[in-house]
Amino acid sequence: MTRKILVTSALPYANGAIHLGHLVEYIQTDIWVRFQKMRGHQCWYVCADDTHGTPIMLRAEQEGITPEALIERVHGEHTRDFAGFHIGFDNYYTTHSSETRACANEIYSRLRAAGLIETRTIEQYYDPLKQMFLPDRFIKGECPKCGAADQYGDNCESCGAAYTADELKNPYSAVSGARPELRRSEHFFFRLSDPRCQSFLRRWTQAEGRLQNEAANKLQEWLGTADENRLTDWDISRDAPYFGFEIPDAPGKYFYVWLDAPIGYMGAFRNLCDRLGLDFDEYWRPDSTTELYHFIGKDILYFHALFWPAELEHAGYRTPSKVFAHGFLTVDGAKMSKSRGTFITAASYLVQGLDPEWLRYYYAAKLGGSMEDIDLNLDDFIARVNSDLVGKFVNIASRSAAFIVRRFGGRLCTCDESLPAIAAIRERRRLIAEHYEAREFSKAIREIMALTDLANQYVDSVKPWELARQPGREGELQAACSNAINLFRLFAILLKPVLPALAAKTEDFLNVAPLVWDDTATVLAAGHVINGYQHMLTRVDKRQIDALLAANRESLATTPPVAPQKHAEHQEKAAAVAVAQAAVPTAAGPHIGIDDFLRSDLRIARISAAEQVEGADKLLRLLLDVGPLGTRQVFAGIKAAYDPAALVGRLTVMVANLAPRKMKFGMSEGMILAAADPDGAVAGIFLLAPDDGAQPGMRVR
Ligand code: 2FM
Ligand code: ZN
Repeated sequence: MTRKILVTSALPYANGAIHLGHLVEYIQTDIWVRFQKMRGHQCWYVCADDTHGTPIMLRAEQEGITPEALIERVHGEHTRDFAGFHIGFDNYYTTHSSETRACANEIYSRLRAAGLIETRTIEQYYDPLKQMFLPDRFIKGECPKCGAADQYGDNCESCGAAYTADELKNPYSAVSGARPELRRSEHFFFRLSDPRCQSFLRRWTQAEGRLQNEAANKLQEWLGTADENRLTDWDISRDAPYFGFEIPDAPGKYFYVWLDAPIGYMGAFRNLCDRLGLDFDEYWRPDSTTELYHFIGKDILYFHALFWPAELEHAGYRTPSKVFAHGFLTVDGAKMSKSRGTFITAASYLVQGLDPEWLRYYYAAKLGGSMEDIDLNLDDFIARVNSDLVGKFVNIASRSAAFIVRRFGGRLCTCDESLPAIAAIRERRRLIAEHYEAREFSKAIREIMALTDLANQYVDSVKPWELARQPGREGELQAACSNAINLFRLFAILLKPVLPALAAKTEDFLNVAPLVWDDTATVLAAGHVINGYQHMLTRVDKRQIDALLAANRESLATTPPVAPQKHAEHQEKAAAVAVAQAAVPTAAGPHIGIDDFLRSDLRIARISAAEQVEGADKLLRLLLDVGPLGTRQVFAGIKAAYDPAALVGRLTVMVANLAPRKMKFGMSEGMILAAADPDGAVAGIFLLAPDDGAQPGMRVR
């Protein structure tokens, strides 16, 4: 029976690069989807960029572009990266779309009609300088438990305590440095505490096979027992300014990004339906017989197994058939790290010339159906790719194809279907399919690799390369090579969900139509003519991995000399170092793109006032006239090199879009540029100055 299946992966945020951690999920989902398609099912795979929210709005502002321009650029980057790893979405869309807006409005209005939306006035931190409410993530201060400075508004990285932003001591806005004020505002809530939601979710989450065991247990914990009511209502609105969808009939109120993110799955599918003439309702109506699966990371289980099904159920849609959560990626046993170079972006992997199918294979070899973390061990990666993929699999073809092409005009003879390796493949293919279906890819790979051992034993026993040297044994040579090529074909089918590009090359080389799962039951007919053998896959060289790590290692030269927002007494030093290091050449640093460079808004500034700062050894307080950008106050660590009076009236260059920083002496609203010898051999700090004619406010690029 042909199944109708809709599959999603979590939507990546539109303000960051895809990295190898993200790819665990997209590769996992893609393998599963390709397997379903090979089985002849109608399976649609949709995804999109998750484009809304405060971080994206602020990031765009920082770059001096509109959020629309930012998300469009990132969409291009994400699309390119996914295509590079052969992620075969049927639609890669955006949540900033008319389809997602329409679905969000519809769900919201149905929930409201069902009495599940409520408004309530809440108190929240507000940044008076930036004139916006602050998400907890953008409030910093001292930990209420241990006193550690510069902790985020939700938990302390120093002692691990969890708390709410209003418990922080001496809070400040991470956006402007200003002291936030508590202000009241009306918010919209989804009434998750309503008994209808509670009883529905108890049933839904504990349904057989709906969630992995570990996930079902987690949910049980969140839901509590039937006489408890542990779920609290969910705040689904945010106040302007916000980049998102304005709530109908509520000017200045926007849907919180997590409300419209999963609705983006619907939006992406709606867009696909409109383009291909598919029936959207068939997949989303409450009595739908189609299947809906969400692949997600375990960190967003709460959203997908509580909020999302409850919303769908009470808005009159079908709910997900299953939610599949996976674990996190570690590299060499540790969290991905920028300083070690293991925070590897998808783009860098491809640009360095590594084969995406190496990673697909390695992840498949590690992935199971549970929520366990997986480790990318780089030595193991090299060993497995080289020994399994090249040594055991590709080798079968490379040792036999040339003989068939050169000696027999590409013509195969009858395949011996009684060979133990072929019999074993026929016997195991069903089990391998079950492993794919259950997302137990590591088990599937183990089975397949055990079968390649049998195939290689066969090739080793018949030794085509020796037969080829012995006149009169042409028949045996053709038979041995025909068998080997048939074996290679069977492995290419079994591995096609994992290695789609290699499968496409194989189809080309074998001169056959796209391979499907049932082709594992057949062999190529005698007389079939194959095309010339093309190179399938190279070995990984350790030097490529070293180069990849080097390319991703953030050198000290490109990291801010002192993390911003440090405790007040550290700030003077921070400013001094910032000025001195700003012009240090990044001799050993990796290249950056022009876009990265243009993110810095460099401007000509006239020093309109300069004075000593009481209590500061190194700093001068400068007022900078930046033409149309107004006047900025900057603390610069140049006291040792300059007499303030001599600076007044001078032109220099400043970074105008540095986030303002609150210092012990006041706000610092930018940074001036100066040169200094990195080795200290030449003493002094040398302020940059433009040529005659430059005017305050002019852009420097
Ligand atoms: O956690 C994240 O990266 C979110 N952008 C995932 C959203 S998944 C879905 F709900 F849209
Ligand atoms: Zn603490």
